[in-house]
Amino acid sequence: MINPTLSGMATYPFVRLEEARRDLVARGVDVIDFGKGDPNEPTDPMIRQALIDALPERAPYPLAAGLPELRAAAAGWCGRRFGVDLDPDTEIVPTYGSKEAIFSLAQVLDAQDNTVVYGEPAYPVYERGALFAGARVHTLPLVREHGFLPDLDAIPDDAAIVWVNYPHNPTGAVAPRAFYDELAERARELDFYIASDEAYTELWFDEPPPSALQAVDRSRVIVFQTLSKRSSMTGYRSGFIAAPPEVIDALKAYRPTVGTAPQEFVQRASVVAWSDERHVEETRARYRAKRDVLLPVLERKGWEVVASEATMYLWVVAPDGTVERLLERGVIVSPGEFFGPSGAGYVRFALVPTLEECERAASILEAL
Ligand SMILES: Cc1ncc(COP(=O)(O)O)c(C=O)c1O
Repeated sequence: MINPTLSGMATYPFVRLEEARRDLVARGVDVIDFGKGDPNEPTDPMIRQALIDALPERAPYPLAAGLPELRAAAAGWCGRRFGVDLDPDTEIVPTYGSKEAIFSLAQVLDAQDNTVVYGEPAYPVYERGALFAGARVHTLPLVREHGFLPDLDAIPDDAAIVWVNYPHNPTGAVAPRAFYDELAERARELDFYIASDEAYTELWFDEPPPSALQAVDRSRVIVFQTLSKRSSMTGYRSGFIAAPPEVIDALKAYRPTVGTAPQEFVQRASVVAWSDERHVEETRARYRAKRDVLLPVLERKGWEVVASEATMYLWVVAPDGTVERLLERGVIVSPGEFFGPSGAGYVRFALVPTLEECERAASILEAL
């Protein structure tokens, strides 16, 4: 028999978008895909070279604790970027991208028969990880009137894990630093862990967004970082968790069983990626150029762009039928309800097509 949690699950929404894309291509339509959030930006040559240079004749199994050089690079980056002092040996563990680590957190902490809480609209993995771990889930609606931040008074007493994700996918909202202090205070009162998915902290346009690591009390803060968006390295699968020593110990005990330590040649390339900011500035400039092409035309057409302060997403209030009308013209966007009921009435543009494709999409939008 198949695990009922799996058979009861709806198709991962992006599989449906991929099917729509293939249909369009088969009909000879020129597709511009703003659907899935997989960056098309090139990985910096310096990072690619580091991987090549590190490729050994034989690669043994990597250890779950990761290379000391990678843990040091991750801790050093947290220090420079967020002004926090982390012990690379007791407060950092490398991950195979962040998705697997996000998925399995509820199995590592005592979430069974407790509640995992997350805001919606959301990246779907918080829910799926919780369900496979036998936890209950509780969602907090993220609405425009509250800046797409959750109502902390609505966190239930039996919460074991509360997920937050700022800058937020899909809305692009940013949490102020004080939010993390309030959340940390609530975590102490109700005894839960804060799981902060920070995949997008480096894709910003005005000011660098804060991290949950900057909370005055970070004794219950677990941060998930990744090179996927910051360094356009989705396929490398490389990230890290920064957390209190007891959580890192638990992860070091759990992760060898799952076998999710990143390959050592990827870890060596990752050291280079965490140690350089120039390529990240270039990446931000590329996303900024694409925003600058799309924002004015969306405004001219009366499509309101809300939040969207950071990340590579634009969160747009769109009239009914927008997704279909765009699809007919080869422009794929994600319907907001893919990310949860509070996403209804919005569409998400992931700024992953090339600048030239964004310019073409702008003309299509203009003529719509
Ligand atoms: C909010 C959010 N978190 C985490 C991830 C996972 O990224 P990765 O596993 O590539 O680190 C993504 C990827 O799209 C995301 O959108």
